[in-house]
Amino acid sequence: MQKLIVPGNQVINGSIKVSGAKNAAVAVLPASIISGSKVYIENIPEIDDVFSLLSILESMGINMRRRGRNAMEIDSSNMRSTYALPYEMVKKLRASAYFMGSLLGRFGYAEVPAPGGCELGPRPIDQHLKGFAALGADVNMEHGVVKLKAKKLTGAQIYLDVVSVGATINLMMAAATAEGRTVIENVAKEPEVVDVANFLNAMGASVRGAGTDIIRIDGVKDFYSASHSIIPDRIEAGTLLMAGAATGGDLELQDVIPTHLEAPIAKLKEIGYNINTTLDTVSVKRSSNLNAADIKTFPYPGFPTDLQPLGMVVLTQADGASIITENVFESRFKHVDELKRMGARIKLEGRAAIIDGGKPLTGAPVKVTDLRAGAALVVAGLVASGETVLSGVEHIYRGYERLEEKFASLGIKIYSQQEEDISQISKQV
Ligand code: UD1
Repeated sequence: MQKLIVPGNQVINGSIKVSGAKNAAVAVLPASIISGSKVYIENIPEIDDVFSLLSILESMGINMRRRGRNAMEIDSSNMRSTYALPYEMVKKLRASAYFMGSLLGRFGYAEVPAPGGCELGPRPIDQHLKGFAALGADVNMEHGVVKLKAKKLTGAQIYLDVVSVGATINLMMAAATAEGRTVIENVAKEPEVVDVANFLNAMGASVRGAGTDIIRIDGVKDFYSASHSIIPDRIEAGTLLMAGAATGGDLELQDVIPTHLEAPIAKLKEIGYNINTTLDTVSVKRSSNLNAADIKTFPYPGFPTDLQPLGMVVLTQADGASIITENVFESRFKHVDELKRMGARIKLEGRAAIIDGGKPLTGAPVKVTDLRAGAALVVAGLVASGETVLSGVEHIYRGYERLEEKFASLGIKIYSQQEEDISQISKQV
């Protein structure tokens, strides 16, 4: 069991490049199957979710070649066409559900264990399945495995009852190969959806309207080799901005798309931080007083649910009462109990968290329950006095590339240790 040790009272200072977007990469990799030939993808983050997907691709007989640190060539020309994805591999990440859309699109057949619920609460895939059925697939669930079969996929009119990133991307992939036109309404507008649409189009698909509420897809038969560079990770960028803000530092992020961060930037300004943007940088600096503020999470372009736990840490530093309302996931407040153990004063009322800010945090042993909660606890540890020891840190490595190294370049010390060495290391810190 690995732990992270975060010494407190640390301030982030410096300038750093943001990695490629996790949520785009975990969709682009399964989508690469649709080409049926060689694709070249760059700016892939080296994170555990990507490694898990690469092992799944490898197990399907796909040839992969690394091209430098963050680039790969993926050749799906000779892959297995009827492959039942093993549960042991799929359960590691929900994004393996994207193989439903890509395998169904390429071969008319997919067998993928249902992803199930997770730390954020129940996570149904009813909208994905409703869309596959509308495209003409037989959809069955047997022994926890989703089985999709179609002799032919046919374009359809689909209205999503819930704005879902996953369903939008999965249906774009399947519809890309269907005969005729598919129109999907009430789709997710996240930049990652646009990135996958661009990648599909680079391989020969005809996807129009990604980034708006309605996506039109004219199915095509032939797909080609393509190159694609993954967009910058707005959630990693947001995490770092919140970390810079909470610690009262002076931080510049490079290689970002600031328009992808409009909601979190607006909120940080409202709280009282100085934020400057250029075409591809964002910087944050502390000003005099911090104001309490309310955050409501919504699908893009609203405030991202993935930055909600980090926003909460920032608000523990602002005097007065702030309210965070979580509108996207049912139970995304598991970090609250851990923050309370660090001295934060937070009350939960249904989907709202009321934060009585401006009280000092103190280091404590805390448990990471999910990826972004983990990042929030690291940031809380930096702000707190004394040492914070995080367990369950494997969640964090699913989505943050070279965490310790990146923080070290910003003047921050955090230590990763196996559990049995903890007592010794704590003495050295
Ligand atoms: C993606 C992101 C995740 C982010 C989330 C919301 C990836 C790999 N993950 O997750 O980081 O927190 O978007 O921005 O990109 N829903 C249904 N039925 C469905 C599908 C979804 O009811 O068929 C509900 C979910 O339970 C949730 C909401 O819709 O309440 C949004 O979920 P969705 O956008 O699908 O999230 P993911 O794609 O799983």
